[in-house]
Amino acid sequence: MLFTPPTLALEAARPAAASNVLARAPGLGILSSTTQDHVLGTARGVVKSTDVRTASGWLSVRRPLTFMAMREKSLGTELLSRFQTMVRAASGWLSARPSGNFFSNDKQHAGLGTARRSEETTGVCAASGWLSAQAPEVFTTRGEEPTDGYHLPVFPLEVAEWMQPEEGGFIIDGTLGGGGHSEIFLKAGASVLGIDRDPEALAHARERLHPFGERFSTWEGNFSRLGEIPAIRDGRRADGLLLDLGVSSRQLDSAPRGFSFMREGPLDMRMGPSSPHTAAEVVNDWSEADLTRVLFEFGEEPKARRIAAAIVKQRAVRNFETTLELAACIESAVGRHGRTHPATRAFQAIRMAVNEELESLAAALAAAPSVLKPGGRLLVITFHSLEDRMVKRFLRHRSTPFIDDPGWPEPRPNPDFQFQLLARKAIIPSAEETTHNPRARSAKLRVARLLDPTP
Ligand SMILES: C[S@@+](CC[C@H](N)C(=O)[O-])C[C@H]1O[C@@H](n2cnc3c(N)ncnc32)[C@H](O)[C@@H]1O
Repeated sequence: MLFTPPTLALEAARPAAASNVLARAPGLGILSSTTQDHVLGTARGVVKSTDVRTASGWLSVRRPLTFMAMREKSLGTELLSRFQTMVRAASGWLSARPSGNFFSNDKQHAGLGTARRSEETTGVCAASGWLSAQAPEVFTTRGEEPTDGYHLPVFPLEVAEWMQPEEGGFIIDGTLGGGGHSEIFLKAGASVLGIDRDPEALAHARERLHPFGERFSTWEGNFSRLGEIPAIRDGRRADGLLLDLGVSSRQLDSAPRGFSFMREGPLDMRMGPSSPHTAAEVVNDWSEADLTRVLFEFGEEPKARRIAAAIVKQRAVRNFETTLELAACIESAVGRHGRTHPATRAFQAIRMAVNEELESLAAALAAAPSVLKPGGRLLVITFHSLEDRMVKRFLRHRSTPFIDDPGWPEPRPNPDFQFQLLARKAIIPSAEETTHNPRARSAKLRVARLLDPTP
């Protein structure tokens, strides 16, 4: 939770504050010299001053925009976005840790987010242009995986920026997973309906997001069935729909789920009970031609034929039961070259077949216009070229007002014209994000807005 900065102007802070004492700004709350541990509060001395102190147990974070405008980018503690509690200390700034100690910026602490220690110690507001962040557990230090096994949400800043979650808004997170994106929306004041086909993910997210009370609800099922969600059937429409495709790190890393070629587990790979097959069924029962097609199309595996033939040969002796048996068979069929495991593409392809991922995406895209309000935003994050191509083609077609054909005397209105592209090209992650979240490397984000059908 972040405090809403009061209307107090930053400039109201006393301009000539002594370097080791915090200014007291009217309405700001309690300020102190940094040596007084018991006092809480945040302030900056003067607008152009680099002399910023946080009181013990607090972090002061500044809005990036002000930051840039002031050309003080390398100074201070920075919040990556209003909606995102991931924080870092920029070079040259002080940051306060929950321990209550201050540190000038050094390597050891540069990546630490800091937080107010407890809610009971409230009573201090951040000055205008500043945010004070709360509760250590909502912080994730830069580059560190959350301890619950879920990955950092990809594109946290871009998702917040393009979705524009607002107080009173209603957003459908079609791929709830660990709830990272949902949390961003909830913190901005929106209500969120989180969908996942994985009951384990839903249970985890419910626990994590229960502080948001009734603003957060869930629905278990495939996002391809958006129209069947009771709220949607009752006529509720959303201000935004997010699809962050694929599996979560937690699913991937859980050996019993059978997604990983690195961990011994049953050949399962189902995201949840709604997934129509298990990997064992695909590998042991599908024809060689179907296996080849799956590996080639979904995995873009150039050695699809050779791998399918090896699988069929081995299963004639004994059915595959485990992930490592399958990985070893693939490796013996194609050898190991380079750093990527030879089973990487095949496992991805089989997972996509098991969960009918492309079919689900196609159905969700088709349903999106009927679950969004006019003006509602559609954000889709893909990690696979086939998925991105599908989203790109869908949005390109639906955002084209007129279509043409060489046989027609003139272009005709496109009956499917429904969306406005908000970003013409796919958005790719910043270098900073990929450094700290390698999973983001292949991610692409596409964003569009549903047009109002009434003229
Ligand atoms: C990449 S993770 C989402 C992570 C999430 N955005 C976050 O911030 O933690 C994808 C999640 O979507 C779920 N999922 C994938 N395809 C789905 C589908 N067709 N229907 C419902 N859930 C799906 C997976 O089970 C997984 O939990």
